Amino acid sequence: MITMNEIMKDGHPILRKVAEAVKLPASAEDKEVLRQLLEYVQNSQNPETASMYGLRPGIGLAAPQINVSKRMIAVHVTDEKGVLHSYALFNPKIISHSIEKTYLTSGEGCLSVDEDIEGFVPRYARITVKGTTLDGEEVKVRFKGLPAVVFQHEIDHLDGIMFYDYINKENPFQVPDNATPYER
Ligand code: NI
Repeated sequence: MITMNEIMKDGHPILRKVAEAVKLPASAEDKEVLRQLLEYVQNSQNPETASMYGLRPGIGLAAPQINVSKRMIAVHVTDEKGVLHSYALFNPKIISHSIEKTYLTSGEGCLSVDEDIEGFVPRYARITVKGTTLDGEEVKVRFKGLPAVVFQHEIDHLDGIMFYDYINKENPFQVPDNATPYER
């Protein structure tokens, strides 16, 4: 299983690479990586397993963060209505998005970044994501609010983009244009 020891830290070159598409149907090896990504985020949100293995809580994880430069992400996040959005996807892609933006008022964090980096990260308020599940099923799902932010953060990891790249350097708390704040 993945622990913090397997998670690449900011500054590692793999976090800046564009990851390769996964050949489908996925190999047993690729499926195992994706299964482990999801297992990490699930375990990290369970207080018992998190404390037993020293897992920092996370709501999403991308394969490059465990040193695999392939397009795979896991997201396991509960929205403000208490609905769980749990996905493990091969080759996730944003196929459409709103014009309207959003940003988390508390900023974003990342399992690969140890320090808190303050500032607003502009994100699309709503997105539609296409991808392939562990069972080989192609899905197309619409997200808004926190799950939409998490998907954008994780898919960015596949393109070598870190959340803080979007923070305004002169004024980190500059409110993005056309954006509705999201309070976590
Ligand atoms: Ni991250």
